[in-house]
Amino acid sequence: LALDLKLRSDLKSDQAVIEAAELLKEGEIVALPTETVYGLAADALNPEAVKKIFKAKGRPQDNPLIVHIADQSQLEQLTAGKISTKARKLMQRFWPGPLTIIFPKKEEVPETTSAGLETIAVRMPAHPLMLAVIESSGLTLAAPSANTSGFPSPTRAEHVYNDLKGKIPLILDGGFCHFGVESTVIDLSGDQVRVLRPGGISREEISRFLEEEVILAAELKNDKVLSPGMKYRHYAPEKKLYTFNFADRISVLNQALKRAENTRIAIITARESEIDTGKLPDKNIKILRVFDHKAPEELAQKLFDLLRKMDADQSIEEIYIEELDRAGIGEAVMNRIYKAAAADQYSQPGGGDN
Ligand code: TXA
Ligand code: MG
Repeated sequence: LALDLKLRSDLKSDQAVIEAAELLKEGEIVALPTETVYGLAADALNPEAVKKIFKAKGRPQDNPLIVHIADQSQLEQLTAGKISTKARKLMQRFWPGPLTIIFPKKEEVPETTSAGLETIAVRMPAHPLMLAVIESSGLTLAAPSANTSGFPSPTRAEHVYNDLKGKIPLILDGGFCHFGVESTVIDLSGDQVRVLRPGGISREEISRFLEEEVILAAELKNDKVLSPGMKYRHYAPEKKLYTFNFADRISVLNQALKRAENTRIAIITARESEIDTGKLPDKNIKILRVFDHKAPEELAQKLFDLLRKMDADQSIEEIYIEELDRAGIGEAVMNRIYKAAAADQYSQPGGGDN
């Protein structure tokens, strides 16, 4: 991670950090960068403040929020009962970082924050600005992604601005987010560790560390305790999005060729793909070679920005995106892509959020 956590103490006296902390203490909402995506933050223990998040995003009331802390001692304000050894181990290893853990909720945490659930999702983000604001305010911060509900998550301050201008008083600009996909949400309450939403920390990494199998909740049928956010359409560009895999690229692109006579399309592909541009009517096809199959984190980082750029580009009507292997962060990337693609095209299970 290219972020220097030692910056925290200096940042705490930064004017922008103080302004953000003041607003939050007054019950306002503020957009802040994290290492995954930008978050829209409010005092997690103030229901009136948290309501403003739901309103600004247009978020369904039944979708609970993740609470962000800067120090493990803040857990006491949020969780009930004893923290398990496994949870402690995971926090020790992966915090600060993109791992969200579900805990039994303390009664004092408002229902608005947990969307009526008995549990609360908590993580310690690894972004110096976010950490500095948490420390400076002394609060725990509820923060979903700072996008309009259903839209691609924001990975640059400009994305937040485009979605929420006029609806929030402040955005702190921390540049491009490092991971580009949200945190991994895990549930430790059952016999097996379950990933409710794949994210920045891969299932393999958690599994290797705990030396046990970690399952993807969406793989189970009749699994009732999934992240409530999973049922909504998410991350979606306004334009139609299709996926194709490397083996099918010739037939997919032939189809695209036919369609390109009257539809303008963009193809997002791996750099090593051999797509014969000579055969394509370049007037209607735009090819973007943006990632390397061996480096899925490249696509993770750029994905939401790409989807937003495609939407803003008047010369594009449809988007085709090449699938990647679901190993490592590829699991989170493909989860977001399937979610963003038209639901009737893919009966793909998968976690999500909004
Ligand atoms: O990386 C992230 O997690 C970003 C940054 C801002 O921290 N936040 C984020 O929040 O992605 P949001 O609200 O967009 O997604 C939260 C996800 C949703 O799928 C929600 O349903 C799930 O976490 N979730 C929250 N609390 C839960 C709970 N108590 N039980 C199960 N799922 C929960
Ligand atoms: Mg979200």
